[in-house]
Amino acid sequence: MTYEYESDSINLKKHLRCERIGSSIIFLPEIDSTNDLIKKYLMNNVSEGLVVVAETQTAGRGRRGRSWHSPPETGIYLSTLLKPNLELSQLAIITLLVGVAAVLTINKFSNQNAYLKWPNDILIDSKKVCGLLCEMVKKQDAPDGVIIGIGINVNQMPEQFPDHLKSIATSIRIVNGFPIDRIAVIQSFLENLDHEYQTYLNEGESSVIKKWSLNTKLFGKNVSIKHGSNVTTGSAMRLDELGRLVLLLDNGYEEAFDSGEVSIRED
Ligand code: BTN
Repeated sequence: MTYEYESDSINLKKHLRCERIGSSIIFLPEIDSTNDLIKKYLMNNVSEGLVVVAETQTAGRGRRGRSWHSPPETGIYLSTLLKPNLELSQLAIITLLVGVAAVLTINKFSNQNAYLKWPNDILIDSKKVCGLLCEMVKKQDAPDGVIIGIGINVNQMPEQFPDHLKSIATSIRIVNGFPIDRIAVIQSFLENLDHEYQTYLNEGESSVIKKWSLNTKLFGKNVSIKHGSNVTTGSAMRLDELGRLVLLLDNGYEEAFDSGEVSIRED
């Protein structure tokens, strides 16, 4: 089922229990990338909390220059804008808090537990159900903002994923065996995000790190982390106060990573 663009937007706004997110909500049938559209609005100094939802994206973007498969009627492609007064180094914590909001949302609807893989993949049964792309705009000639983009695999059937994703992606429908209402998922995510953001502004990063750590299976696992052209292996220990992943290396020293691609080693 496609979105009812106008009435979904009005109803969602009416029922949404948020302080900051959802000040305006725009539903569109098609866009290149919802993150890119938010960026254009930001240049025109739109206020915090604008939400854009698209039925399909023609150039959906993932992390590390990848694309995000965005077919209509099945997935959620949503971006919103936060305007916290933060330094670039604090973007990592914002990314983690969005991950917390997303995993809590998916766990409300999924019959099987979803968990976080650092920095911000959400997996069920080792397969990706949700991805996040958080981008900070901080330039002298532009207003500051953090663009939060989320893609959730909600109602895809296994055969609807392209071949290269079939073994690594899943959807809530695949896990549950029945389709679910995308609008309910959107409402839950926006309310969770609003709550986690407010908690972070009031209490700081320790609450984010604590909640993130409660929703991962990474700690204690042997992992390898690809950063640039290097690969480091070790045991995943914890997140530090900056949201970096701390590994216990094979030489007995600890090292904290602020970016990279983590794989769990099965050895
Ligand atoms: C990833 O895991 O690589 C991140 C995927 C993020 C995809 C979402 S879909 C909505 C928003 N618009 C985009 O172009 N990307 C994000």
